[in-house]
Order: sequence, then C-alpha cells, then structure tokens
Amino acid sequence: MQTRTDQKLGWIGAGRMGYAMAERLAKGGCDIAVWNRTREKALPLEKSGAKVVNQLEELSTRDILFVMVSTFDDVKEVLGKALAKGKPKMVVECSSISLEGSAELRQMLKSKGVEYLAAPASGNAKVIKAGKLTFVVSGPKSAYETAKPYLDMMGVGSSYVGEGELSRIAKICHNVMLGVVIQNLCEITVLAEKAGMPRHAFLDFLNKSVMGSMFTRYKTPALVNLDFHVTFTPKLLRKDLDLGLDAGRHFGVPMPVTSITRDLLQQMIGQGMTEEDFSTLLAMQAKNSDLDLTPDNVQVGDGLS
Ligand SMILES: NC(=O)c1ccc[n+]([C@@H]2O[C@H](COP(=O)([O-])OP(=O)(O)OC[C@H]3O[C@@H](n4cnc5c(N)ncnc54)[C@H](OP(=O)(O)O)[C@@H]3O)[C@@H](O)[C@H]2O)c1
Repeated sequence: MQTRTDQKLGWIGAGRMGYAMAERLAKGGCDIAVWNRTREKALPLEKSGAKVVNQLEELSTRDILFVMVSTFDDVKEVLGKALAKGKPKMVVECSSISLEGSAELRQMLKSKGVEYLAAPASGNAKVIKAGKLTFVVSGPKSAYETAKPYLDMMGVGSSYVGEGELSRIAKICHNVMLGVVIQNLCEITVLAEKAGMPRHAFLDFLNKSVMGSMFTRYKTPALVNLDFHVTFTPKLLRKDLDLGLDAGRHFGVPMPVTSITRDLLQQMIGQGMTEEDFSTLLAMQAKNSDLDLTPDNVQVGDGLS
C-alpha cells in the first residue's frame, strides 16, 4: 500500500495552476520540493509544507518530477536544466502542449531512461481549490499506477486513455470546446441582454437547464458582474485553439467552428485585450453589438463552493 511519502516529489512551475496543484500535494502531506522561475511566487508554499529550492538541478534526484509551465519551449528549457546532471525516475508533464512536442519530450526522456506520463489537466486555480481538478493521462500503464495516488490528491482523479501522446489530443479537444463554449455563451448572453433581460436572470435559467454545466456555472459570476480577473489568458487559449486546428489539419478533420472562434479571439487580442480573463470575449461581443456593458451587481453562486 502506497503512502503519501512513498515517493519524493519535485515540482516545476508555481503559476496560477502549478501553485494551487503543488499546494494540494504539500497540504496532503507529500514530500515535495518546488522550483519556480520567479522564486517569490513559490515561497508561500513553504507554509503548506513544501520546500522551495533555488536551483532546478536540485530537483533532478526526486522520484517523480511534475512540470506545469506555459508552452513546450518552456517545458524543454526547464527540463533541459533540471536533467542536466541527474535524473528522476519519472516525469509527469501537465502543461498544455502539442502532440509533437510531447512526442519529442518522450523521446528525450526515453534516451535518458526516465519514464514519462503526459498528464494535462482540466480546471482553473479556483477549481483546484474546490478539489475538482481532473487529469487525462497517457503513457506506460505501470507508471500511471505509481503516479495515480498523487494525481488523485490534486482533485477528483484522472482518466487513463492509453499509450503515447493520446492524452494531449484529449486535452486539446477539451480546450477547443472551452473556447467555442465561452464564445457562444458570450454571444447568447449579449443577445439575451440586448433583447431586454438582465444577464443574471438569463444565466440563472441556462444554468438550471440541461444546457447548464459546471463550466457555465463557474463562469457566471464573471459574466454577471464583469469580474475579469484572469483565470486563463486569451493568449493561452489562442495557443490551444491553434493546437486544435493543427491537429484537425494533421488528422484531416474540418473544424469550422474552432476556426472562427480562433479568429474572434485573435481580434480581441489584436485590440489589446490580453491581460484579463479569456471571458472578456463578453466585452468584445457587447462592443460589436453596440451594447453598453455594466455590472449587474447581483450576488450569484459559482457552483463550486
Ligand atoms: N489557467 C487555467 O485555467 C489552465 C487550465 C488548464 C491548463 N492550463 C495550462 O497550464 C499551463 C500553465 O498555465 P497557468 O495558467 O498556470 O499559467 P501562468 O499562471 O502564466 O504560469 C506559468 C508558469 O510557467 C512558468 N514559466 C513560463 N515560462 C517559463 C520559462 N521559460 N522558464 C521557467 N518557467 C517558466 C512561470 O514562471 P514565472 O512565475 O516565473 O512566470 C509560471 O510558473 C499552461 O500550459 C496552460 O495552458 C491552464
């Protein structure tokens, strides 16, 4: 029976996602050492029991090394340094990266004799705090069995989808849906408001209906009260829609709805709307509809707490 201290964990990346994920492992009693490029951002994790290290190289001898940074280039950079002089038993890479990047990483780790799981995640920092993060995982089944208890501790569990980079495709499909759904949610919310009803009333109906979901519910406070503090940036979402379109081209699948959503997002980014949450698509939709957007100032639940 595996205990929480069986494996020595290493963690690279304490951004919005990585911080909240590592915090759950630390609070769960794991032996975890964390590195972040901007060290100060990781330091509060020490209160939860994590050790914050100064150098990436200090993580090279951990048993399982988790990575949660931004893009594939960043993953390559941090792992190149972390594995320069030593090697962990296993790398669990959780950032949202391409199929090709993930395959390149698998090759690199194989040549060093390091096991590799591709384990992208679904949920934002608030979702993690609510204990509802999920993972989709691919790679050797035996490696998955070793990492599973730690993945479970970060949320509601994981789905193992097979060998190789299959989980990357699952995650890309998932985030394509995220982009398309938020764009559509913004369109219909602006339509409902322009027709004369308050946003909170429309979304209350939608969330109670069969079309409501955990996602539409937890985005509702942002759309109702225009709280666009960032959970996921427009540029990171654009990256995922681009990954989806690349995969569509690779596998010969037309993706017309994704394509137009990507262009709408690009228009928003091109107008300089880059620093707030991706749900500022609502503001762009309102502007394009000649609707003056003001907060409803109504308390609404997010379905998470
Ligand atoms: N936010 C979401 O809702 C969400 C959900 C699921 C998956 N994801 C995916 O999860 C990943 C992280 O997203 P996030 O929202 O946590 O992003 P974030 O808040 O911007 O954090 C990015 C992290 O990567 C580090 N980093 C970036 N480039 C680096 C480099 N070259 N060298 C070293 N460290 C580097 C940053 O370090 P610094 O602190 O020094 O900048 C930070 O720790 C992305 O792949 C994203 O697509 C995000």
